[in-house]
Amino acid sequence: MMIKVSYLIPAIILLFLQSPVFAQDVNVKKAFQQAATQSRLMLQEIKKSADASKPEQVSPRTLDHGALKLVASRDWTSGFFPGVLWYLDEYYKTDQWRAEARAFTSFIEKEKDNATTHDMGFKVFCSVGNAFRLTGNVHDKAVIIAAAKTLATRFNPKTGVILSWDHSRDKWVNPVIIDNMMNLELLFEATKLTGDSAFHKIAVSHANTTMKNHFREDFSSYHVVEYDPETGKVIKKTTHQGYRNSSAWARGQAWALYGYTLCYRYTKNPAYLKQAENIARFIFAHPNMPKDLVPYWDFDAPQIPNEPRDASAAAVMASGLYELSRYSKNSNNYYQKANQILKSLSTAFAAPIGTAKGFILLHSTGSKPSNSEVDVPLSYADYYYLEALLRYKNYKK
Ligand code: GLY
Repeated sequence: MMIKVSYLIPAIILLFLQSPVFAQDVNVKKAFQQAATQSRLMLQEIKKSADASKPEQVSPRTLDHGALKLVASRDWTSGFFPGVLWYLDEYYKTDQWRAEARAFTSFIEKEKDNATTHDMGFKVFCSVGNAFRLTGNVHDKAVIIAAAKTLATRFNPKTGVILSWDHSRDKWVNPVIIDNMMNLELLFEATKLTGDSAFHKIAVSHANTTMKNHFREDFSSYHVVEYDPETGKVIKKTTHQGYRNSSAWARGQAWALYGYTLCYRYTKNPAYLKQAENIARFIFAHPNMPKDLVPYWDFDAPQIPNEPRDASAAAVMASGLYELSRYSKNSNNYYQKANQILKSLSTAFAAPIGTAKGFILLHSTGSKPSNSEVDVPLSYADYYYLEALLRYKNYKK
């Protein structure tokens, strides 16, 4: 039977319009307009709440009972607002955003010498790392290398991992948290910048050891694994921010997904790609994942669906998925999932213009077990949301 071409063309157009990719198109321009307007408000709010007696408080972290909470550069979240400003600079390419980004980044630089924490990547790479990527400034390069050297001092060859926390030694013995996967990007980059393979080797050791010890059979991740610093043996697997030791804390799963994807970027080791794919399968096949793909704060939280969401976990997942979709055979599936997340965040989770003291997204959860930062804006949700939007935009290109 002959099908007339005149019937075929509208049929193809109709099919295309109904395809999930088209249906989940994300309005990047509108999302960035909201982010820029909110960030201008944030800059005003920071000026208003600056306290002359606490000059060390430099970056917005969250709202505490409606009040803007600023933190010092040593706080693990200090690099995210400078990073938001760099992403606005990347999108708009105006001197104004660049000047603000540079000013807020300069407050964080001194963290390059702070060896008391593993959060170096979050602090320095999200701020100075983006500055270097966008400007090529040699001073930024030196800061990145110095920060990687400092982070490397926390690596223990006996455990094969980078120590996460120094605090609460009465509670934790040599703890490593899944979040620490995010700091590996700084180390991989430092090897690229210096040619010194020592940083790369530490990152690979950390990723391999974490792959062995942090994951359950279903590829969900524990939050905290404690090691004997002398023998390297695992002592305990627990949680700090999750519902219980055996549960799947949502942001932890997001850090793991993003972390193994970035490890694949730098190594092309298929084991890391497989790991990221397995983590993605756990996350998106989970019966407690809501239809809008913005997870509850823990996949095993007892009162689901009456539990707070975590938009920050969703933003990290979306950004990680766009990268994973570039490497995986399952590309279209990851791409569509990321689009769905961005659609949800940009419509139902975006702060109405002029509210939330200038944060971009609402409804994140920092630590539910300590009743801290529950259902609030968080600077890292904003950071990974803008990163995901840019990845979506560049992917389309
Ligand atoms: N890295 C700390 C957190 O995800 O809350």
